[in-house]
Amino acid sequence: MRTYLKILSTGIAVPDKVLSNADLEKMVDTSDDWIWTRTGIRERRISEDGISSGDLGAIAGKMALENAGMNALDLDLIMVATASGDHLFPSTACIIQDQLGAKRATAFDISAACSGFLYCLTIAYSLLNTGTFRNALIIGAETLSKITDYTDRSTCVIFGDGAGAMLVTLGVDGKGIFASHLGSDGSFASLLNLPAGGSRLPASVETVKLHQHYIKMNGNELFKVAVRSMEEAALLTLKKAEIPPEALDLLIPHQANIRIINSLIKRLGIEKKKVYVNIERYGNTSAASIPIAYHEAREKKLFNENSVILMVAFGGGITWGGVLLKG
Ligand code: ACO
Repeated sequence: MRTYLKILSTGIAVPDKVLSNADLEKMVDTSDDWIWTRTGIRERRISEDGISSGDLGAIAGKMALENAGMNALDLDLIMVATASGDHLFPSTACIIQDQLGAKRATAFDISAACSGFLYCLTIAYSLLNTGTFRNALIIGAETLSKITDYTDRSTCVIFGDGAGAMLVTLGVDGKGIFASHLGSDGSFASLLNLPAGGSRLPASVETVKLHQHYIKMNGNELFKVAVRSMEEAALLTLKKAEIPPEALDLLIPHQANIRIINSLIKRLGIEKKKVYVNIERYGNTSAASIPIAYHEAREKKLFNENSVILMVAFGGGITWGGVLLKG
């Protein structure tokens, strides 16, 4: 019998503090008009000092558990997608496991930058199909503000903080995730990275002085590969399920840049009204962008249990992925 990865509930956490384009105008040589027309962003949320990705992820996870009426002890698996984890180790998933009191859960992180949440969903689908785990909490959590250089106008206008969670289990009633496609190409690794702090370039006075603990991005080149890889991810995912793009009820793309989203939907021939966009309020929250967007679309009742939804992302690595679901 065909199984589906059923979404039992969702949750999100976004910091209260808003960083607007007007605020950024006072910090770097930029303008609201430039940011809005080039990225589609008006404002982003920024976490307070001392608040980590794990902290936001735990709040989102708790909301998902409460929305499903599930006890944390019923979780078997916690998987976290993040590019701004609390530490190199232990994993942010372990930090969240502790904060939730999910003592029975196996917890680990997945590193696939902005595609990370779709990587997690795909891995969870496979793992749950083996019968080893029953209830999984999948979280995308980022505090990108902690690794953003607020003297670099080409990156600091893009990124924001937030977390989104999905509580999933296996189902056979035809609702949930039923197809996915993942890909990566490490030859593009230098287009988006955080140069120092790992084993290749350990932290030193010099690395700090050179701002090498912040996100570096070749935005122009990334733009091109982003559109190409997201289109491929979308088409190959749809092909697996033999669903044409026009049959989609809703597209939830990674919120990287409104121009990337518009290029993608033009190539796929999808109408704007079928695309969920919230980048103007949150900026690019990397692995958290898709679960936050899905949660909001669900809350706004923009789809029902029979709707066919495609989630599609690309990220540093580079990585890309598509996940198709019903409801
Ligand atoms: N304000 C004002 N001017 C700026 C700013 C800014 N914040 N940033 C750059 N500029 C200037 C540049 O210096 C350049 O000036 P010049 O012509 O005098 O040299 C000019 O604007 C054009 O710069 P470009 O980099 O060509 O601008 P572009 O139109 O490509 O927009 C952007 C830059 C927004 C980063 C775009 O390339 C982009 O979105 N790329 C995709 C990258 C992306 O989405 N990254 C985040 C996602 S990654 C992920 O999600 C994994």
